[in-house]
Amino acid sequence: MCGIIGYVGPRAAKDVVVEGLRRMEYRGYDSSGIAVVDEGSLHVRKKAGKISNLDAELALAPLPTTHIGIGHTRWATHGGPTDSNAHPHVSSNGRVALVHNGIIENFASLRAEAEAQGAVFASETDTESAAQLLGLELANGVDLFDAIRSVARRLEGAFTLVAIAADQPDRVVAARRNSPLVVGVGDGEMFLASDVAAFIEFTSSAVELGQDQAVEITRDGYRVTDFDGLPAEVKPYEVTWDLSAAEKQGYDWFMVKEIHEQPQAVADTLLGRHTVDGQLTLDEVRISPETLRRIDKIIIVACGTAFYSGLVAKYAIEHWTRIPCEVEIASEFRYRDPIIDPMTLVVTISQSGETADTLMAIRHAREQGAKIIAICNTNGATIPRESDAVIYTHAGPEIGVASTKGYTTQIVACYLLGLYLAQVRGMKFGDEIAEVMEELASMPAKMQTMLDNQQQVKDLARDLIDAQSVLFLGRHVGYPVALEGALKLKEIAYLHAEGFAAGELKHGPIALVEEGVPVFVVVPPRGRDQLHDKVISNIQEVRARGARTIVLVEEGDDEVLPYSDVTIRHPKCSTLLQPLLAVVPLQIFAAEVATLKGYDVDQPRNLAKSVTVE
Ligand code: F6R
Repeated sequence: MCGIIGYVGPRAAKDVVVEGLRRMEYRGYDSSGIAVVDEGSLHVRKKAGKISNLDAELALAPLPTTHIGIGHTRWATHGGPTDSNAHPHVSSNGRVALVHNGIIENFASLRAEAEAQGAVFASETDTESAAQLLGLELANGVDLFDAIRSVARRLEGAFTLVAIAADQPDRVVAARRNSPLVVGVGDGEMFLASDVAAFIEFTSSAVELGQDQAVEITRDGYRVTDFDGLPAEVKPYEVTWDLSAAEKQGYDWFMVKEIHEQPQAVADTLLGRHTVDGQLTLDEVRISPETLRRIDKIIIVACGTAFYSGLVAKYAIEHWTRIPCEVEIASEFRYRDPIIDPMTLVVTISQSGETADTLMAIRHAREQGAKIIAICNTNGATIPRESDAVIYTHAGPEIGVASTKGYTTQIVACYLLGLYLAQVRGMKFGDEIAEVMEELASMPAKMQTMLDNQQQVKDLARDLIDAQSVLFLGRHVGYPVALEGALKLKEIAYLHAEGFAAGELKHGPIALVEEGVPVFVVVPPRGRDQLHDKVISNIQEVRARGARTIVLVEEGDDEVLPYSDVTIRHPKCSTLLQPLLAVVPLQIFAAEVATLKGYDVDQPRNLAKSVTVE
């Protein structure tokens, strides 16, 4: 959580920093702030609330034009979202300004120690203890780069620290553990940021910092060491997407743009996976076929929407590979003492690749000897780096806090993995794999059909704007789609919504159904007739109790018509691939309800895009 930026170079630091923060606002928007160095002193502006509040503050009290600065956009952990708790924090001796992403677990003892040495605290944050300790180190004559490493060695928890010193107008220093940090390498200028989006406008050359590494940037270059000061190896890379990819391109919201990008994102995720001789190739899965043949259990760990994509994947993976597959919420995983051994394959799904709960879960699994495959959308993020292999979903940057193209591309990547395992273990012949791949390849065009016919869903959103509660039902892979539909509505439209396995209805939830309650139902395609017919019965059950039924069903299936108040059609597809189509109207519905209610669709309250704290 939180977005951090540091800059040194010829441009006006205040402009680079504030613009960079704006591009990272999705990481947290409880407060934001900036610090620059001018003529031997630090100048700080910071404000609770969104970056527009900081803009107003800067208009009232402009900063000097300088060429070095740091900034922060916050998702509050320790201390409420107030002006004084906003970052940067300045040491009480005025020597340093520091920003932090993460949680410093031993902050209380560090605070006591700094206070004993005369530091006076101005906030309730854990971060300020790091700022004060750094200030004290400098007062003792320690070099700034040495000092940040020395402070980093003493911190427990998760942190990226970025700092500048009042008497050093030419360098920014940083250190990271368990929180992201990327160096942007420009021509005569350098950047530090939690995300390349912050500096992509200026350079596409980047360097990802590894675990327990520190960096110093000046106009002319960067120097990376470990926390003891020994030179560290880093891997420079080129960022392949440009600024326009991170902008809204005419849509009102990033989320809506991202919903519309799904056909392309799914096509890109499928690109280059199937050779002409019918073999599935997953170049990034660098785990030997022998090892994959020995796997006797798969555990998928993820959070939120990524967890729901894992629930979909379970049906396909078990069906194709006959390997038992569990799906587990990452934050629950390691606390239940899961049974893991070297024959276990842990598949972790994360759009951002930085979700702390997921990261901790895979670390736990690794310690028990499991092999880890990450499904991730963010190149070089911590989760893929700490995994044995990675399948990237090529969805492009996802900025809207509510995941959309992340979800559909995760399902596709999981399916690729399932087919690959089936191929390696001899559970599926080449022609069987080719058949599924062919159907997957047809999905982008079918998703586009859903997008082309969205007016019906938008009208429905207008009709249901006053609903107090909305229910979603599904069976088989339709069940996780129901959960995802409900989550979207909860998180961006702040509307009470629940997803249920349709068969569970009469074991309790049907009591919620009363006159007029909207109930979305995902009907499985024909071909699994038993499943299909059971869902039709479930629709009748809720309708008989007054529900307003909104039924998602494939073209040509008219059996449902007598029981459906609104029928949303999708192109024909097999049951396993239905989630890729059925979720689209649910995403559009949630975005439209939130828009009509006047909410901020991209940055819903209390949430952040990248949840880097447990
Ligand atoms: C919901 C949503 C979240 C994320 C979850 C995991 O729309 O976006 O539930 O899916 O926080 O995030 P990642 O995939 O980045 O690990």
